[in-house]
Amino acid sequence: MNIIISKVELRRIVKNARNDGKTIGFVPTMGFLHDGHLSLIQRARKENDIVVTSIFVNPTQFDPNEDLDTYPRDMESDCELMASAGVDIAFFPTAESIYPHGYATYVQVEGNMTQVLCGRSRPTHFKGVTTVVTKLFHMVFPNLAYFGQKDAQQVAVLKQMVGDLDFDVKIVVCPIVREGDGLAMSSRNSYLTPEQRTQAPVLHRSLCKAKEMIANGERSAAIIKQNIEKKIDAIGSAAIDYVAVVNAHTLETMESLKGEILIAVAAKFGDTRLIDNIQIEV
Ligand code: PAF
Repeated sequence: MNIIISKVELRRIVKNARNDGKTIGFVPTMGFLHDGHLSLIQRARKENDIVVTSIFVNPTQFDPNEDLDTYPRDMESDCELMASAGVDIAFFPTAESIYPHGYATYVQVEGNMTQVLCGRSRPTHFKGVTTVVTKLFHMVFPNLAYFGQKDAQQVAVLKQMVGDLDFDVKIVVCPIVREGDGLAMSSRNSYLTPEQRTQAPVLHRSLCKAKEMIANGERSAAIIKQNIEKKIDAIGSAAIDYVAVVNAHTLETMESLKGEILIAVAAKFGDTRLIDNIQIEV
C-alpha cells in the first residue's frame, strides 16, 4: 500500500493509471476505520483496478460546538486495516493542503435537502461535506465513489451535487453494517459509556418495529413516527433530535407512505449524537 500525503503526487499517480485504462474506486473517510468502512473498501476492491481511501477529518463539516478536536483518530490501526483490506493508495491530505491560507470557495446544495433532518441541528455540516468531497473528487479522479447508507442524507445530498454539477463519477451506496445487537457501526460509538452502549441499539429496534408495522399495512407517517419516538423515549436517557419519515431521494416529508421511503432517526446519548435509518419500498 502506497501512503500519500501530497495531492500533486496523488494526482500524478491516478492520472497515469486512468491513462493506462485502469479504473479507480474511491472510499473517502474520516478515519478511525471500522467494519462499516471496510465493507466499502471491500466492495471497491471487487469493482476497480485501483482502490484509493482518503483519511481526512474535515474541519468544515463540524459546527463550532462539535467534536472536531476530540474526533477519534488512530492512524496506525487505520493503515493496518487499509493494507489488509487491499487498499492500493492511502491518501492522508493535510488540512493546509485542502484549505490553504486564503481559501474562499464552497460547494453547497441549496434548499430543503440540506436543511431538514441533520441539517436542522448541523446547519453548516453538508456545505462542509459537499466542499471537501468535491475537492477530493478532483484530486482522486475516481470512476466510482463508495458511501455508506448509514449517512442517508449525506448520500442524497452528494447524489444531488454529482447530478447538478455533472461530475463524471458514480456514487455507490453500501448497506449499513451493524454490531451483533443491531447498533449501526460508527466511529462515534467509541464515545459511549458502557451503559449508553447497551441503550443505543434502541434506535435500530425502533426502526425494525416501524418496518414491521409497515409490512402489516400501516401507512400513516405520523403513527410510525410516534411509535418510534415512544420506543426511544422509553429508554429514559436518550434525547431525540429527530424522527423523520421522508421520500428517500428528495427527503421531502410525507403524510401517507408510498414509494421509496427513508425513516431516519438521530438521538443523543449523553453528549454522543447517533444516527440510524431504514429504507423501505412501499
Ligand atoms: O462520511 C464521512 O466520513 C465524511 O462525511 C466524508 C464523506 C469522508 C467527507 O468528509
